[in-house]
Amino acid sequence: MKAKVISIFTQKGGVTKTTSTINISGVMAEIGLKVLVIDFDTQCHLSLGYGVDAENEYNVEDFLKSVEPVRYVNKGKGENVSVIAGKLTLSTKNLNRQSLKKALKKIGDDFDYILIDCPPKPINDDLGFGEIAVYASDYIISPVDYDAFTLDGLTSLIIKINELQTNEELKAKYLGFFFAKVEENTKDFKEAYRELSESPISDMLFKSYVRKNAFIRTSINLGESAVFLKPYSPVSMDYRKLTDELIQKIKSNG
Ligand SMILES: Nc1ncnc2c1ncn2[C@@H]1O[C@H](COP(=O)(O)OP(=O)(O)O)[C@@H](O)[C@H]1O
Ligand SMILES: [Mg+2]
Repeated sequence: MKAKVISIFTQKGGVTKTTSTINISGVMAEIGLKVLVIDFDTQCHLSLGYGVDAENEYNVEDFLKSVEPVRYVNKGKGENVSVIAGKLTLSTKNLNRQSLKKALKKIGDDFDYILIDCPPKPINDDLGFGEIAVYASDYIISPVDYDAFTLDGLTSLIIKINELQTNEELKAKYLGFFFAKVEENTKDFKEAYRELSESPISDMLFKSYVRKNAFIRTSINLGESAVFLKPYSPVSMDYRKLTDELIQKIKSNG
């Protein structure tokens, strides 16, 4: 499998993991890349946001457990985005850290990138979908808000990933975090961005960020990426810059 696998992961909810998975894949499709997105959150919001019926389609449970050929729903520009729907009742019972990694072996060389939308759960003693996802990944990225709760959570996330890399054979590299839902001209944002730019983890901060924009809600309700529906909206421009930076980071990481 030639695809690079990226988990969109952080234990915090509501920070745009799902929206970012949809729109980063939308940009990749636009530039002619083939991308697979996997809904790995039992809330199934990625499926909803891509207008895919999580209950009736071939879904992530089939992907993990069944031997039948993998089926996708195609979306985005040139139908370059293939979606594997989520499953509301999926449980981690009978799954282990290697389950998704094994299932991904069923995928040939059809994709350039695979994006996994993770649920908001910390990696702790109970096996969660986020943990299974990162063990199937080459890279991890996280969207962040600029309130103290999120920034505090980010520190524990980086420490946890580091610990797993050192002691638990986690191969995925943490590429970093980006601000989303940004109100650009606020003091809070400017301060958080500046502080992180000057911090010891500044190399993990994406220079690009995504501004808050009402069209996101419309796009989610219409079941396609904002990027596909309105290529020149501010949020589409932002996701284009962010995706470009992501691809550059991956290229420079080998
Ligand atoms: N750029 C944006 N501008 C405004 N609202 C946004 C933006 N990105 C996401 N949202 C909204 O933020 C909420 C949380 O986003 P979501 O992608 O569901 O986060 P998560 O997957 O991390 O829980 C959603 O209601 C979504 O519509
Ligand atoms: Mg989500």
